Amino acid sequence: MRKPIIAGNWKMNNTKAEAEELLTALKPLVKDVKGVDIVVCVPFTDIEKVKKLVKGSKIRVGAQNVSWADKGAFTGEISAAMLIEAGAEYVVIGHSERRQYFGETDETVNKKVCKALAEGLKPIICVGEKLSEKQMGITEEIVCLQTKAALHGVSRTQLDEVVIAYEPIWAIGTGMTATPEDANQTIRAIRNAIRDAYGDVAQNIRILYGGSMNDKNARDLMAQSDIDGGLIGGASLVAEKFEKIVN
Ligand code: 13P
Repeated sequence: MRKPIIAGNWKMNNTKAEAEELLTALKPLVKDVKGVDIVVCVPFTDIEKVKKLVKGSKIRVGAQNVSWADKGAFTGEISAAMLIEAGAEYVVIGHSERRQYFGETDETVNKKVCKALAEGLKPIICVGEKLSEKQMGITEEIVCLQTKAALHGVSRTQLDEVVIAYEPIWAIGTGMTATPEDANQTIRAIRNAIRDAYGDVAQNIRILYGGSMNDKNARDLMAQSDIDGGLIGGASLVAEKFEKIVN
C-alpha cells in the first residue's frame, strides 16, 4: 500500500512571521491524523524557522528548488547540503513555474533530481502538460517523456525516495481541476512509464495530483486508484483548508 502524501507548496509566500501564524494554526488541527505524510515546501529563508516550528508534529519540511551543483560560482543558487543543513527533507523539482519563468528544462530537472537523491533529499518531481498540449491530445506522451527524462540515471533503490507530482499547467491557480478520472488516467500512464523502465517497483511510487486541489475536491481526487496525494498551492496557505485536505 502506498502511503498518501499531502504536500503544501507555499511558492513565494509567507514571511517568517506569516509562516509562524499558519503553522501555529495548522499543527493542532493535524495532530491526530494517521496514515498520511504531511509536507510543507517553503521559501528557503523559512526552512530553519519552520523546521523548529513543526518539531514534535507530523509535518515535514521541504524546499522548492535545489542546484545540481555541489558548490562554487553559481550566484543565486542553493545547494542540497545547504537545504539539508537548514532542515529540509523534501525538495520540489521542476515545477512548471520554474520551467516557464526560470528556464528549467528536462535536462536540468534530471541533474537536480540526481543531485538531490545523491545528497539524501527526497525529490517531488513535477510534470504536466500545457493547455495546448492537452488540446492536441498529447498529454500522456508529454508527461511520460518528462518523467522518463527526470529519472534518467536514477537507480532502482533511489526510486523509493522519489515522489512524482502530476500538475496540468492549465489547472494551476486557475480553479480548473482535471476531472478525477482524467487525472487518474494520466497518473496511471506515468506509473506505466516508470514500470517500463524499472519493473514492478513502480507500484510503490507515490504519484500526486496538483492543480487547484482544495478542501472541496480533494476527496473525489483521492478516491481514485492511482492518485496518492496532492501538491497543493493556494489552499495550503489557509490552515483550515489544508487541514481539511489532510484529514
Ligand atoms: P494551486 O493549488 O494554487 O493551483 O497550485 C498548484 C501547484 O502549483 C502546486 O505546486
